[in-house]
Amino acid sequence: MTDTTSAPINPDELPGGPLSAASDDFVGQDWGSWPTYEAATLGFRNFWYPIAWEHQVTSKPMPLTVCGEQVVLIRDGDEIRALHDRCPHRGVPLSLGRREFPGTISCPYHGWTYDLEDGKLVGVVTDGPDSPICGRLGVRTYALERRLGLVWVFIGDPAEMHPVEDDIPRELLENDFVMGGRSDVREGNWRFAAENGFDEGHAKYLHNTALWRMFKVMPAWNRTRLVERDEWLIRVQDEVNWETKIPGLGTWTNKRWWRTMPLPDAPGKAADVNPVIKGLDLPGFVSIRLPGLLRVAYPHYIHYEWYVPVDADTVRYVQIMVRFEKGWKAARFGALYLGAIRWLFHGQFTGQDAWMVDVMDAPPERLYRPDISITGWRRVCERAGLVVQKLAARPDGNPGSMAATNLPEVRKSDGTPIPPGFRATGKRATAAPAATSAPEEPQLRRIRRGGRVADGE
Ligand code: FES
Ligand code: FE2
Repeated sequence: MTDTTSAPINPDELPGGPLSAASDDFVGQDWGSWPTYEAATLGFRNFWYPIAWEHQVTSKPMPLTVCGEQVVLIRDGDEIRALHDRCPHRGVPLSLGRREFPGTISCPYHGWTYDLEDGKLVGVVTDGPDSPICGRLGVRTYALERRLGLVWVFIGDPAEMHPVEDDIPRELLENDFVMGGRSDVREGNWRFAAENGFDEGHAKYLHNTALWRMFKVMPAWNRTRLVERDEWLIRVQDEVNWETKIPGLGTWTNKRWWRTMPLPDAPGKAADVNPVIKGLDLPGFVSIRLPGLLRVAYPHYIHYEWYVPVDADTVRYVQIMVRFEKGWKAARFGALYLGAIRWLFHGQFTGQDAWMVDVMDAPPERLYRPDISITGWRRVCERAGLVVQKLAARPDGNPGSMAATNLPEVRKSDGTPIPPGFRATGKRATAAPAATSAPEEPQLRRIRRGGRVADGE
């Protein structure tokens, strides 16, 4: 194990650098220390992203947006295909099209017909059998894989493509397990969602009203450092405090007579730990990795959540709860997931996070000691040599002209340009926690070693 980013906490060195002496709310830190991260409104290229549940993709085209790109998913026999959702002719979404011939989709406007496998234009219904444009262009296709019951697409340059397994936690590929999950599109930029997930300070306060934590005491404050191990950045608690004694104000605590305590400060320290989780030898509960995946490990479960950029203002939030068990223990978990976890944890608890991600507005920001979790994550992103995703300039009519080059110019109604990135942080305020899309049916899956759904599931 290499602890390369142990971050000592020094009250005089606040995360993100020195603060202005002014106390004005409007004087704060910007994200200038992390220019790559600041530019990554639409996420990072050259990663695999989970974008849909496998079984939800049917022969009816399914449109969605990932990292700002319009994608259409279509099931074609045993295969699932992903294409750029835009007909090069006049820019109509192919997801509105029809399935006229096997293995193809026809644009609804003039019947340009594309091969689902390679995206080539193979026929034009309204231009006769000798249409000279046939074979001369096509739409871009996306590499696609199916793991954990999810559809993954590679967003980036084909030359940079790596196996999907590189972007999936190893423990989910090397073991059998049962999982429950749900996915929805929520308000807020993906970076706010990722930062919220790894945010050291929030859970103890924001979530102390969550039913999921009703019977467990949570700490009031911790002393925390960060540890890097393999692909993960891990929060490690050096000191756990169950109450905050604030001079002149009084004492605040999460302790209540009906709550048990304490939780161990690392999953492996519990008396009874699942062997797979124990084998991970995690020094802390919570870890994060690129391109935006959080892991919260408990002694018997692990919760994972992916923050998949949709556009500047929305994020696809994919959450799964995993238990590394087979047989009756797996079946019992299924009942527990459907009866409790999906409502309490994947519903109300993470709904509180959705609320904050929706209403927050930064930068500017004024960071405090626990925010080393946030600055540590930004630092990981900053130094990883990542390629920032940017929207293509308005497609020029060439097939698949999706090269990431320039942000399109956006103007207000009075003609003034809106600077790129503005929409990532210009948030409207709302008062109630709400997910953007209606929660979907919970997905229960048994997964075999290698990440494939077990037969018959
Ligand atoms: Fe697609 Fe004309 S816009 S066929
Ligand atoms: Fe949270």
